[in-house]
Amino acid sequence: MRSKVTLHVVSSLDGFIAKKDNSVSWLHNSGGVYQAGVSISQAEAAAFVKAIDCYVLGSRTYEHALELGWPYGDTPTVVVTGRKLPSTRTSVEFYSGDLKTLLDQQLAPRYRNIWLVGGAMLSQRFLELGLVDEIRLTIAPILLGDGLRLFGGSRTEERWDLKNVVAYKNGFVELSYSAPSV
Ligand SMILES: NC(=O)c1ccc[n+]([C@@H]2O[C@H](COP(=O)([O-])OP(=O)(O)OC[C@H]3O[C@@H](n4cnc5c(N)ncnc54)[C@H](OP(=O)(O)O)[C@@H]3O)[C@@H](O)[C@H]2O)c1
Repeated sequence: MRSKVTLHVVSSLDGFIAKKDNSVSWLHNSGGVYQAGVSISQAEAAAFVKAIDCYVLGSRTYEHALELGWPYGDTPTVVVTGRKLPSTRTSVEFYSGDLKTLLDQQLAPRYRNIWLVGGAMLSQRFLELGLVDEIRLTIAPILLGDGLRLFGGSRTEERWDLKNVVAYKNGFVELSYSAPSV
């Protein structure tokens, strides 16, 4: 069984993944209807989420997710942190240490479809280490003007291969890229 790491992130048009005040309404508000776009049913969305075997989160994303109301159900979730954080759910494990070791020794033997949720800092670390197989970047139809930059600390130049584009009726666009083959 070969595992695959997908980095999934939603960005504003101007490249932010979170507002300064951490509010998230921008993630759900659509603009006008894009008639040529597709929409997915609740059943399709549920089947998609069911196929995810494991989520990986940075500690700040974890803390924000707890505040918002846990969106990851009972799917196994690994939170990367150097702190001792309170355990809130049986599906959550904490990890501190080398990220390649996390992937090779703890995740890959157990999970096939691994979703790296973010945030910006943890995604950056995974990308720098070459641990991401696919980037799924959803662009929301909004300019935020300020906030937390997607890939803000990126220091590498690397071309990725576009694999798929899906435009939704609500104006969101999902771009899928695979890692460059070596
Ligand atoms: N738009 C989207 O799709 C999206 C997706 C995800 C998150 N977000 C938003 O992004 C924000 C959080 O992102 P962020 O970049 O500030 O933080 P983050 O990546 O969620 O978490 C950063 C923390 O992860 C831990 N960490 C990272 N690398 C580590 C390593 N190698 N070893 C040990 N610990 C490590 C550290 O935790 P400790 O400090 O605990 O040691 C670090 O402070 C939130 O507002 C969240 O809602 C948006």
